[in-house]
Amino acid sequence: MTPSAPVFTWPEGVGRVSFPEIDSTNEEARRQAVAGEAGPLWLRADRQTAGRGRRGRAWASPSGNLMASLLLRPACDPAAAAQISFVAALAVGDLVLAVAPQAPVALKWPNDVLVGGAKIAGILLESGARADGRIDWLAVGIGVNLAYHPADTPYPATHVALHAGADLSPDAALTGLAAAMDRWLGIWDEGRGFAAIRSAWLARAHGLGQSLTARLAERVLEGRFAGLEPDGALVLTDADGQAHTVHGGEVFFNAPAPGSA
Ligand code: BTN
Repeated sequence: MTPSAPVFTWPEGVGRVSFPEIDSTNEEARRQAVAGEAGPLWLRADRQTAGRGRRGRAWASPSGNLMASLLLRPACDPAAAAQISFVAALAVGDLVLAVAPQAPVALKWPNDVLVGGAKIAGILLESGARADGRIDWLAVGIGVNLAYHPADTPYPATHVALHAGADLSPDAALTGLAAAMDRWLGIWDEGRGFAAIRSAWLARAHGLGQSLTARLAERVLEGRFAGLEPDGALVLTDADGQAHTVHGGEVFFNAPAPGSA
């Protein structure tokens, strides 16, 4: 007998809208913000025809997976808004663990969620700014591979059904995600609680102490993942013991050499 999926409760004061098909829930969040939607509002689509990932990549969006965006209007500065990718990663981790408690969930800097080293979810933050430079609107776009994962990615990928004891519909997954996001956003508290978010994220971090390559816009850095700065930037220590702060870019963990511990 298949165990039943956990029952989640939708958070109070948060809106929800679903679309059978849309270009991109992040794009729809932007349109709704520009039209005056005050948020918080979750937007979910059964399918996206132009789902987007980070770095201009497409995001495979088949029916059965969770594609959703949370529209927020935090009047904070862009650096504080960027911290919400850690908040979202923790929430996605909670969702996966709720249906797959034994799954080796880990969070990869800056905003991927892995199970057993394979990507199960990605997060894309997009925002608009006010004239004074503060955030006008923020779309927290989250794609969770529930029923499928793409076969053609340059990194290993997986999906929730391979790890969970119960099926999780996209709608139920959104309720679980919204509840978890609401909890972690409360802890984040418009940035005042980022230290607690950072510690919780580090406790689930993928690859702490491991060898990595960081591809930045202007150069490539090699070293070890030493931790996070108080603002969430990645700290990489190179072979000379020099610490480098990585604010953006892509990081790749290098496979351990054969025979190494
Ligand atoms: C990544 O890992 O590259 C981020 C993927 C983000 C995908 C989600 S799916 C819902 C939302 N709408 C989009 O077009 N993208 C995000």
